[in-house]
Amino acid sequence: MKLNPILLSVLLICLFITSSAQHSETVSLGRIKMQFTLDKEGAPAYEVFYDNKPVILPSRLGFKLNVDSLLYNGFQLTGTEKKSSDQIWQTVWGETKDIRNHYEELNIHLQSGHTPAIRLNLIFRVFDDGVGFRYEFPLQAGLRYFIVTDELTQFNLSGNNKTFWIPGDFDSNEYLYTTSLISEIDNRKMVESATDIAVRVAPDPFAVQTPLMMKTGDGLYINIHEAALVNYAAMQLHVNTKNYSLTSSLVPDAYGNKAYLRAPFKTPWRTIIVSDKAADILSSKMILNLNEPSALSNTSWIRPMKFAGVWWEMQTGKSTWNYSDFPDSTAADGKPIPNGKHGANTANVKRYIDFAAANNIQGVLVEGWNTGWEDWFGNWKELVFNFIKPYPDFDVVELTRYAASKNVNLIMHNETSGSATDYERQMDAAFRFMNQYGYTSVKTGYVGRIIPRGEHHDGQWMVDHYLRVAQKAAEHHVMLDSHEPVRPTGLQRTWPNWMASEAARGNEYNAFSTGSPPEHETILPFTRLIGGPMDYTPGIFKMKGYTANAPARQMHSTLCKQLALYVTMYSPLQMVADLPENYEKHKDAFQFIKDVTTDWEDTRIIAAEPGDYIYIARKEKGSPKCFLGAITDENNRVADLPLSFLDKGNKYLATIYRDASNADWKDNPEAYTIEQFIVDNGTKLRIELAKGGGAAMSIFPATESDIKKIHAYKNSR
Ligand code: NOJ
Ligand code: CA
Repeated sequence: MKLNPILLSVLLICLFITSSAQHSETVSLGRIKMQFTLDKEGAPAYEVFYDNKPVILPSRLGFKLNVDSLLYNGFQLTGTEKKSSDQIWQTVWGETKDIRNHYEELNIHLQSGHTPAIRLNLIFRVFDDGVGFRYEFPLQAGLRYFIVTDELTQFNLSGNNKTFWIPGDFDSNEYLYTTSLISEIDNRKMVESATDIAVRVAPDPFAVQTPLMMKTGDGLYINIHEAALVNYAAMQLHVNTKNYSLTSSLVPDAYGNKAYLRAPFKTPWRTIIVSDKAADILSSKMILNLNEPSALSNTSWIRPMKFAGVWWEMQTGKSTWNYSDFPDSTAADGKPIPNGKHGANTANVKRYIDFAAANNIQGVLVEGWNTGWEDWFGNWKELVFNFIKPYPDFDVVELTRYAASKNVNLIMHNETSGSATDYERQMDAAFRFMNQYGYTSVKTGYVGRIIPRGEHHDGQWMVDHYLRVAQKAAEHHVMLDSHEPVRPTGLQRTWPNWMASEAARGNEYNAFSTGSPPEHETILPFTRLIGGPMDYTPGIFKMKGYTANAPARQMHSTLCKQLALYVTMYSPLQMVADLPENYEKHKDAFQFIKDVTTDWEDTRIIAAEPGDYIYIARKEKGSPKCFLGAITDENNRVADLPLSFLDKGNKYLATIYRDASNADWKDNPEAYTIEQFIVDNGTKLRIELAKGGGAAMSIFPATESDIKKIHAYKNSR
């Protein structure tokens, strides 16, 4: 028998570790196994297996602390504990109503060789779809206040995996994904060329962001991320392109420090999700399960919704956020000089309120309503916006009355331009203002270099800031959608009013830059959305010629794919992003957006492959209605969509919105066909998706007359 050299070295390492182990312990659940080892030198390490195949090779754990100590080896084991848990909990909103939290836990108690000794616990949870672990510094006499200068967690991979990555930037997650082998990772070109991203700070050419999605040579899907990022810096991964070892690399502050802590303290969980099916990565609930239950006892005011916005018209240059083009001068009467193109004026906002009210859209976002937009961008200045002062043409009293009379919620917009200090100063007043005028949601923004100067978007100080905003919002019964924050880590379980974040490259890049290729939306659910919902802003219907600034620009999508994104790109706050007049031209296709919901009873990932395609079906919460979305990358393909998730014995009316046979994202993106069939749970739909295309479907219980009038779908036509 010929042994492959990687396998041989794995065996040798395993042999070495077990033979030289001071202590070793194994925990498994289903196909997942985790082995913990403390070697003779007192160095802790863990390994992860799937069906006994190595997923993570022996990997070291530890820290460098400022208190002159390397917490890496020389540990003694002082105790271990095991426990099992299997519970079902209910979400406030989500992709499913119920979530099963089933795991085996191993708690390792260690004591360092320092004087005084430092106590450190390692807590492992093994689920049937992966492993989570965290460090705990318990209350102890020898350690009180301390600084993490480095976390030394390793994730040693078993081979040169295919990887979907973006650069490890301290300030942005808005990059395009690169698909490459681990050995090919080097982010310099990506960072240099991404001139459309406002702030880029990526000093390590070999650092990548999490969630990091990978596929091994023998078909295992592995996702590495973190859960419950609280009072700590975000974890990036430093890649060793030679031996495929990943090491945690925390985002620093101005002094190069990573986290200022006080014992007792628990770090975020490090997470490894693994399966031989890509679909399982999308349906994993591990990150949510590793977060604490809701901190809010009354959540009745938290309501998922669709929203329109005075927004795409600014993105495409039809109107402006700013009221005046002259920040430094006023007219003879002492008032600012209007530029005549200000989007957030009372009449225009009313138009959007009417549009929302008529189309089952519950909210209207208004950007550019408050003073400060004249020179908000790129100056790294402390005082920019006033969060309670409307521009003169925005009549907040009248609009509050008007929106309420139409049963529409106005959505507040608080862009900070990165000046988090000033937002903290004004925050109480800002939230009181929202309460006074009946705003139930706020979209925040952090475009620009962060103030306090020297901090980064993803460092400990800002991680705390975003959470403080979510908590302040909760006190005021306001839902939060943060733009340009750190990427989510499942904290929406604990703070269910923190509905969505951007923290990735959204649809808007198709307006203000050369955009994102069609595969982008087939990668995001495997990467950024693993931590939580994304405000991607789907629903653009005018696919070309929408921007006055750059007429050649176009969406990298067909119109039907924009519909499908309402299902494949989960968010409880989901934008209906295009202009009302652009929906007017496609009323038949717009019906899908009117119908689709944002809160789900259950979700079935029908099939998926990162970078290629995603097909998802979801059932509306408390209703028999189902919706299905199927998207593809730059390749056309035939989607096989069995409807086995439907209730047996019932007949349904399926309305299918699909790409026309001559459609493609580049030359014919607005061509589509709408068909209806009677279907049931034995139906196997076969639908062609165009290049860069997609299909969307609503599946409602059929009436007697539907069954009489409409043909039943014949399998494999
Ligand atoms: C960037 C956000 O992503 C976008 O949605 C917003 O319109 C601008 N910042 C202005 O706040
Ligand atoms: Ca592809």
